Amino acid sequence: MMNTMVQVPSIALGTAEATSAHAKVVARHVDVYYGDKHALKDVGLDIPERAVTALIGPSGCGKSTFLRCINRMNDTIAIARVTGEIAIDGQDVSDPELDVVQLRARVGMVFQKPNPFPKSIFENVAYGPRIHGLARNAKELEEIVVTSLKKAGLYEEVKDRLTDQGTGLSGGQQQRLCIARAIAVSPEVILMDEPCSALDPIATAKIEELIDELRSNFTIVIVTHSMQQAARVSQRTAFFHLGSLVEEGSTVDMFTSPKDRRTQDYITGRFG
Ligand SMILES: Nc1ncnc2c1ncn2[C@@H]1O[C@H](COP(=O)(O)OP(=O)(O)OP(=O)(O)O)[C@@H](O)[C@H]1O
Ligand SMILES: [Mg+2]
Repeated sequence: MMNTMVQVPSIALGTAEATSAHAKVVARHVDVYYGDKHALKDVGLDIPERAVTALIGPSGCGKSTFLRCINRMNDTIAIARVTGEIAIDGQDVSDPELDVVQLRARVGMVFQKPNPFPKSIFENVAYGPRIHGLARNAKELEEIVVTSLKKAGLYEEVKDRLTDQGTGLSGGQQQRLCIARAIAVSPEVILMDEPCSALDPIATAKIEELIDELRSNFTIVIVTHSMQQAARVSQRTAFFHLGSLVEEGSTVDMFTSPKDRRTQDYITGRFG
């Protein structure tokens, strides 16, 4: 239970009310249409800072669509139309003043399929800091690369072959490389869309451990089809169904005493 209630500035949120103490991302009345298809319906959610929020629900319920609203990746889909309000630290992400390139540096993304650039391991991680001008010289850049690889739990495995192709790593290593690439630009929020679905149980366990470590510094939102994974890695869980957010709450409460019948059916495997 939250013991403090903080009102998020009303400029960004209109009449919306904040329900949690340190909401990093606040979504209110978010609707998404792909042409005529109403894919997200009036979604409101607070995503707490420095914690892991899991988005769960049956295929096609809108989890990826919601994730993409946070860093405006839906902008890249011509037929997508997004309405409503999403604010990060009170700043509306659809603010015309806001530079979308900067937004995506603040809100990093890791995808289902590891997608390293066809470049060296070093260059995969150095690319973002270089284009965002985060290093003043080669030494600083190298420091960022090494630190990011260490944070992603990959450094020991690759330190002797930083000039090898990133695509030559194993699937689990590639995914950790993609996480290193995401954290190299010091994002505030990391969005992960089924980051372990292409990985074996050992690689998955490594990524889960990593997520648990990263949450002390980052706000993480993870989409997963694995109830076990949601229960293991997240502190908050949100259940989506047919484009609506049915229920959200602490992960423990969601898994032990879901309020809605649909949530209960889904987490107990009766549908999905
Ligand atoms: N680019 C797109 N063009 C048209 N419709 C889309 C597009 N992306 C998603 N949709 C539709 O929007 C709805 C929500 O899709 P979304 O990908 O967000 O679901 P999801 O919960 O992530 O599903 P999954 O678990 O299968 O990844 C679905 O009906 C889907 O068909
Ligand atoms: Mg998806």
